[in-house]
Amino acid sequence: MAALEPKNTKAQDKTEDETWFVWPMYLYQGLWCLNYILEGVIAFRTHFQAYDSDIILASLPKTGTTWLKSLIFAIVNRKNLSNDLTQYPFHTKNPHELISHLETKVYLKVNEKLPDLSKIPSPRLFATHMPCYSLPDSIKTTKCRIVCVCRNPLDTFVSIWHFFQEFEACKGIKPDMEMMEKYVDKFCSGVSPWGPYENHVLSYWKESKQNPKKVLFLEYEGLKKEPRDHLKRLVEFVGCPFSEEEEKGKVVDEITEVCSFKSLKEMEVNKSGKVIFGFENKALFRKGEVGDWTNYLTPMMAKQFDQMLEKLKTAGFSFEYYQMNSS
Ligand code: A3P
Repeated sequence: MAALEPKNTKAQDKTEDETWFVWPMYLYQGLWCLNYILEGVIAFRTHFQAYDSDIILASLPKTGTTWLKSLIFAIVNRKNLSNDLTQYPFHTKNPHELISHLETKVYLKVNEKLPDLSKIPSPRLFATHMPCYSLPDSIKTTKCRIVCVCRNPLDTFVSIWHFFQEFEACKGIKPDMEMMEKYVDKFCSGVSPWGPYENHVLSYWKESKQNPKKVLFLEYEGLKKEPRDHLKRLVEFVGCPFSEEEEKGKVVDEITEVCSFKSLKEMEVNKSGKVIFGFENKALFRKGEVGDWTNYLTPMMAKQFDQMLEKLKTAGFSFEYYQMNSS
């Protein structure tokens, strides 16, 4: 533990009283951080200087990050790639290599040397799992844009539950119902990586209502149901709308198709290799379905999400594309 202790963390800023599979977790200023990313969280908050032209993807883990990374990369770069699908780099690079996560990649280990991000061509594309209230000030004060994707909490939990079992150091763990109950309990009481879940969702949703030019709030389920409409919202929001010619042509469908679950999952680059520390790329593409939680959670477990759902409802939030009925 001591070796991983971030150098510039004040003791009073964090408590370490939880674990997530094999990791200790800190509650750092209201944000649950796996111990190995805390240093990155602090460095990102301290040093990142946003530009007006930046586009930042914000999401909780397992809510559609990989998918959105591929879509944003495709729409922003489509002109450079002459709208020619064979030129799209998804065949050789996983979407996480094309858009880097700020706290888990760019700033993860920067004790000695800060990364120089000034040479990245505009618009710079980045991603973060942090909630809106934890973002560095420069993201809030510049005109940079944030695309947030959220997913219903039950499927998010089931996805995260499976994902962490794929971590190489977790392979020896034999999860049973008792363990799953324990993790449902943690998740529903706000204890999950980058959680609490509901604070994350509400932070971006509220900002998108107050400042729709700053934050575009999307739902995983909406993207699944109406990919074309969502793609149009996305291109308009990031400032590169489809031309009439593009709308009439095939490009909208082609981008939707190349970034689809089936297409990305089948690419050789995503069947092997590792771009996220400790995880094989294939773990990023499990089922990609809506409502898969019904195959895993007992009615008792599902009931535990009610309090979280109630909190969202009380704050005025409801999912546009998902009927939030846990029973
Ligand atoms: P499941 O575990 O339910 O299958 P993230 O990218 O934020 O880690 O989210 C991973 C979840 O998104 C996984 O959900 C994964 O299968 C799904 N996913 C990955 N790529 C997708 C795509 N192109 N379309 C739809 N879902 C996708």
